[in-house]
Amino acid sequence: MKTQVVIIGGGPSGLLLSQLLHLAGVDSIVLERKSRAYVLSRIRAGVLEQGTCDLVRSAKAGARMDRDGKVHSGFAMAYNDQIVRIDLEGLTGGKTVLIYGQTELTQDLYEARDKLNGMMFHEVDDVEINRLTGDSPFVTFLHNGEMHRIDCDYVAGCDGFHGISRQAVPANVRTEYEKVYPFSWIGVLSKTRPVDEEIIYSRSSRGFALCSMRSETLSRHYLQCPATDTPEEWSDDRFWNELTRRLPRSVSEQLETGPSLQKSVTPLRAFISEPMQYGRLFLAGDAAHIVPPTGAKGLNLAASDIYYLSNALIEFYKSGSNTGLETYSQKALARVWNASRFSGFMTRMLHNFVGGDSFDVRWEDSLLEYLSRSKAQQTVIAENYVGMPY
Ligand code: APR
Ligand code: PHB
Repeated sequence: MKTQVVIIGGGPSGLLLSQLLHLAGVDSIVLERKSRAYVLSRIRAGVLEQGTCDLVRSAKAGARMDRDGKVHSGFAMAYNDQIVRIDLEGLTGGKTVLIYGQTELTQDLYEARDKLNGMMFHEVDDVEINRLTGDSPFVTFLHNGEMHRIDCDYVAGCDGFHGISRQAVPANVRTEYEKVYPFSWIGVLSKTRPVDEEIIYSRSSRGFALCSMRSETLSRHYLQCPATDTPEEWSDDRFWNELTRRLPRSVSEQLETGPSLQKSVTPLRAFISEPMQYGRLFLAGDAAHIVPPTGAKGLNLAASDIYYLSNALIEFYKSGSNTGLETYSQKALARVWNASRFSGFMTRMLHNFVGGDSFDVRWEDSLLEYLSRSKAQQTVIAENYVGMPY
């Protein structure tokens, strides 16, 4: 087989890239390790920056998002019994975020690929990238017991944190920056009315809590928990009791509880691999970086990578210019580091660090206290939350 771009990984990054390239007349083939049903069973975050929404629209996959997504013009940060509302719209000159689940978005991208007869292999194995430093790379993989080879011009590594693409960048070229937090989040999806119209991030002496939602009847809640915890250790009763205790009384009084539909534990980690390009390989999304979820930036960073990468590839095929490709890593990393800083800041401000001394606890309390009184600090949070321009 032959194509222009082989895309490894069929999560949001890979699907969005193949769709944008296709619409611009650039051929690609997507290789995904899992089945489509498996990819669509993963529950992830659901806060989209305007830049992400615009990109999804330009990929002609935005109709359902625009119909079912909910515009949020602010969110709340709670501590002790105080609540500070971050007025995103007022503080950023009219910017907002859209609440729409990543799972739904991935489904929309699949349907958009189907409509264009996009070429994709599911349940592939043993993917190997070859001859990256020459001008004719090729990718081999196993599918239905048969080995295949695709010759191509470029390879996009969109295969997430556990993928193989990043390992194709030689260790002596690659620098990995990592911070593993000493706690996880236990997340519960439930058919219950959200506790508020807007998302609430809460810091309490018992640990962090987050009340989010997917629709008017579907809630998504999270609690900070020890990194060693498993979902089985969190019965529904235990989860709701603990959540109640971590929210201000005025919020917990509104909490509707019910059976969980899904429960999962996510470790908190910050990770960035540099550079995001090696020879003819370009990394994008979780393959190159992970942010802790406190700033809701994971999917949005995947989208900004794909914005830079799709434009660079399209520019190359239209005009022969390499400029976008040569500057891709630098541009993407600048935005990644900024979001990583913001996500780290939100994480530090809102969590209890296991073994953290009381100086740190008081320091973090004081940050929230300052936030409640300072429009400047609220503006800093708002402009980062809605997303820095591309
Ligand atoms: N070969 C082919 N596919 C692979 C391989 C492999 N060796 N390894 C992993 N994959 C697939 C995974 O099965 C997954 O479907 O690559 C895909 C990567 O998708 P994501 O992990 O969703 O990463 P990405 O598309 O970059 O999306 C980033 O998703 O993980 C969240 O928080 C993250 O919201 C962010 C977004
Ligand atoms: C979610 O709705 O899943 C969600 C919202 C905000 C976050 C993280 C996750 O910061």
